[in-house]
Amino acid sequence: MSSIVLFGPPGAGKGTQAERILGATGLPQVSTGDMLRAAVKAGTETGLAAKKFMDAGQLVPDTVIIDLIRDRIQEPDAINGVMFDGFPRTVPQAEALSSITPVSHVIAIEVPDERIVDRICGRYSCAGCGNVYHDLFNPAPKGGCPCGSWEEKRRADDNESTVKSRLSAYHEQTSPLANWYREKGIFHSIDGDRAIDEITSDILRSLGH
Ligand code: AP5
Repeated sequence: MSSIVLFGPPGAGKGTQAERILGATGLPQVSTGDMLRAAVKAGTETGLAAKKFMDAGQLVPDTVIIDLIRDRIQEPDAINGVMFDGFPRTVPQAEALSSITPVSHVIAIEVPDERIVDRICGRYSCAGCGNVYHDLFNPAPKGGCPCGSWEEKRRADDNESTVKSRLSAYHEQTSPLANWYREKGIFHSIDGDRAIDEITSDILRSLGH
């Protein structure tokens, strides 16, 4: 059993690439952002604790996130490992993760800050299947999402001012993790400022596919 981490700034393309490599890895995607948004929508205690941080573009406290992951990793589909998307984001989260499940690869999708605002402010997804699209860079097919249940959804935190706070949180709290994983010899840096297909090929190569 061994897990993969997709790492990178907000809007780097972690979710986009996760969808594309799911089949090859055979591992379920575990996105802490998606889990938190579901908890906010359901009005759970975790959702109530997380909402004010998410709305402000700040990281949710480590204890909340680590508890979520401890529970998720117990589920039957996680028995052979998972593909983390957006977790860990701090050194304490990575330390906790190392005692929960082994990690074989950390795939860092690198995108310069100046590209991030455009990527995030043009993002939308299909409410039916969750597929992620972009107004300019990755539009949905003309007839709507191939899943058939077409309703466009935009995230509450996808606006210019929140993106700036999310980028600051990334540089201050998350990017120090890169060295933490580099020292472990499992860190793979991928140029994320290219066509989506090229990035997918490089990620699969790094994973040995
Ligand atoms: P989360 O949901 O994880 O958001 P994020 O990290 O900010 O990442 P995104 O989902 O915004 O981006 P992505 O990298 O998946 O990019 P995407 O593929 O969609 O977290 C939200 C909040 O939850 C956080 O701010 C925090 O409050 C909280 N949180 C979550 N996890 C936490 C944790 N572990 N600890 C503490 N707090 C946590 O792509 C973006 C857009 O670009 C799309 O429109 C896509 O179509 C387009 N695109 C993708 N690739 C390309 C390309 N190569 N070229 C052009 N366009 C592209």
